[in-house]
Amino acid sequence: MNASASAHPASHPANSAPATPIVSGDDRALNALLNRIVDEPEIHARWLNTLAFLEFMGTRKIARSLNGRRADRIALQHLAEEARHAYFFKRSIERVAPDADPGFALSELLAGFSAARYFHGLDALVHRDLADADPTVGPELCYLYVTTLIEERAGWLYPAYDAVLEARNLPLRLTGVILEEEQHLADMYSAARRLDPQCEERLQGYRVQEAQGFAGFFTRLQAAV
Ligand SMILES: [Fe+2]
Repeated sequence: MNASASAHPASHPANSAPATPIVSGDDRALNALLNRIVDEPEIHARWLNTLAFLEFMGTRKIARSLNGRRADRIALQHLAEEARHAYFFKRSIERVAPDADPGFALSELLAGFSAARYFHGLDALVHRDLADADPTVGPELCYLYVTTLIEERAGWLYPAYDAVLEARNLPLRLTGVILEEEQHLADMYSAARRLDPQCEERLQGYRVQEAQGFAGFFTRLQAAV
């Protein structure tokens, strides 16, 4: 995505998922990066491990957020699905590098430090921004916004990766993960709109900052492959 990452205001009806991607970036740079990644099995394995790491970070953040809010069916479903996504990417490593079984040490990831900084940075900025929010909805809103931003980014990244996998005839597809992320985004987005009258303004500001954070991670990925 490079530093040209951009975010566009949403323009879709209440309580529905965006009809078109609302996070975009430099598609050509992404495609070039992904093709370089899949060229080399060892790099590809570290990329899959990095996606597993990010999904695992998401799982942990959802689990922690349940301390401050109701652990309802949707929340537990999302927790279970994010954990499954982490496992899916971890298991997929054997498709490209059969002998690899990495953990999450930074040396086993691709731009791992930047990946962690991107996610933690996003989480921190939303928590800071909502520090003065009504405590009965603040933890819920933090979860909803961070998840929305991550799912929007996944909605740009995962289909592009899936298309490269298909074009290169690699034995791996992201269809199930993509469908579940789309459903998460629809759930998060409709809940945020219901709980927060300032939802759209907040999201527009967060998207700009998310794009800046992601651009830093993306630049490090480009340097690593
Ligand atoms: Fe996920």
